[in-house]
Amino acid sequence: MSSSPSPSSSSRWTSCLILLQVLNLAIAATQSADHVTEDHRYWLDLGREDILRALSEQRNTGIAKNVILFVGDGMGLSTVTAARIYGKTERGRLAFENFPNIGTLKTYSADKIVPDSCSTATALFSGIKANQKTSGVDYRVVVDDCEASLKPENTIDSMFVWAKEAGKSTGFVTTTRVTHATPSALYAHTSNRNWECEDKIPKNAAACKDIARQLVEDLPGRDINVIMGGGRQNLQSNVVGSDADPIDPWSCYSKDGRDLIADWTADKNVRNFKHRVVQNNEELAGVDHSEEFLLGVFANGHLKMEHERDQGPKGMPSLRNMTEAAIKNLMKNPDGFLLMVEGGLIDFAHHRGHAKQALSETMAFNDAIERALELTKAKASETLIIVTSDHSHPLVISGYADRSVPITGIAQNSKFDGVPYTTLLYGTGGPDNYKFFVNQSSVARENPALVNTDDINYAQQAAILTDEVAHEGSDVLVYATGPMAHLFHSVHEQTYVAHVISYASGIGPQSGRNDGHRSSISHHAKNRKF
Ligand SMILES: *[C@@H]1O[C@H](CO)[C@@H](O)[C@H](O)[C@H]1NC(C)=O
Ligand SMILES: *[C@@H]1O[C@H](CO)[C@@H](O)[C@H](O)[C@H]1NC(C)=O
Ligand SMILES: [Zn+2]
Repeated sequence: MSSSPSPSSSSRWTSCLILLQVLNLAIAATQSADHVTEDHRYWLDLGREDILRALSEQRNTGIAKNVILFVGDGMGLSTVTAARIYGKTERGRLAFENFPNIGTLKTYSADKIVPDSCSTATALFSGIKANQKTSGVDYRVVVDDCEASLKPENTIDSMFVWAKEAGKSTGFVTTTRVTHATPSALYAHTSNRNWECEDKIPKNAAACKDIARQLVEDLPGRDINVIMGGGRQNLQSNVVGSDADPIDPWSCYSKDGRDLIADWTADKNVRNFKHRVVQNNEELAGVDHSEEFLLGVFANGHLKMEHERDQGPKGMPSLRNMTEAAIKNLMKNPDGFLLMVEGGLIDFAHHRGHAKQALSETMAFNDAIERALELTKAKASETLIIVTSDHSHPLVISGYADRSVPITGIAQNSKFDGVPYTTLLYGTGGPDNYKFFVNQSSVARENPALVNTDDINYAQQAAILTDEVAHEGSDVLVYATGPMAHLFHSVHEQTYVAHVISYASGIGPQSGRNDGHRSSISHHAKNRKF
């Protein structure tokens, strides 16, 4: 019994598939758009199409010259499902849901059942699990242990170190501060993710360098070709905020007089690299991609969310446009590139318990993936694209609304007290999400049907009151397409993502391939700096 069809039967299958698609289009055309016909025929045809697609799937065992890793921060499975229904309806698919390969990732950190974004980013980018709140260091460094983080044997290299050794270009794009938890694991070694600038480093940790300085002064940070996101308040001292671009009061705020954007520029000048700094939409649109180094700093804190950003010339760019600029810049390198793109505000929206904002940010993340697929189409056979998340959030999709009801609407009335509840709910939440009150000495719950639950700022109800919505520990999905994408096929550790990137592209610790493909590291070994 053969598991794959012979070439002639496979072409028969293909023409059959085309016929079916034509048939489906014809059926669709005879129905009104809002009438959902899901009869026997519909499900049989859809099932056949799916089988044909699975049978025609070819493994790409080539070398991944380029790798793009998309991280939807806090984008758990329920967030993906809800975003799909919100943006595409139940029957639709997000761009990455068309990828041929899928697996699940176990997200626990070295010390916690439910992780944070720093420890998980270290797992994803370096292939080694770290403790909560630490970046680029192994399990021997616990939070705030500056001294342990300074021991070289406790620090770990990210995939950007491997990429540079192999002569590849590197870049990252995020909607958060460029010094924030997720990107920091690409270039920093720190025992506390909050040490984004000097002002948050306690006196007893004065020997430790802040994350912003590590990005600009150390390797691999100063060799990263494309850096885009927010975080000006960590890079430049005493910057001034405004309504359009506020100072983030929770983040570090640099006061030591340093201007790390100027330092970044000076370093590229000294090394004779063509470079450019851009700080708004207009300036981003002006880049011609001839730069070897591109630094985009578009906000004092995090970037504004997609629904509220100023799209004009002085405004902040979308994740889609930053991703486009990064790919166009990095594609110049004939030896390929590694790019990390973070949809960082999905997590931010969830923490504040604003589910619709999280769905909107997930759609913006999907837009960036769509653009990346378009831009790398001609190089699809040598570009590994991975979409995953660092950890989940406790967004619940509760029963039993009709399909005609928006995902942000009411599920039904409670069978206990008759009070309606929304389809989207949270497990934990802050004061805005905790909507219980005492009525005549018994506990009652606010009636969500009395307010507009479809408002972008509506805070869904949560069961437990704490400071904010806390992360959730379910596995996350990993979706992949391109060379070696089929290595994602089962239940994996989160660290596996870095190992697959290493193996597929022939760089780093898993670069020794025994399948006849020459690893690109041997090809480039002569160019190594050490
Ligand atoms: C962002 O992308 C959109 C669509 O591709 C384009 O119309 C717009 O001009 C871009 N903005 C910038 C600043 O490049
Ligand atoms: C409080 O409880 C009373 C008696 O059960 C009920 O009539 C009233 O509607 C409740 N008020 C609210 C705001 O739930
Ligand atoms: Zn978070």
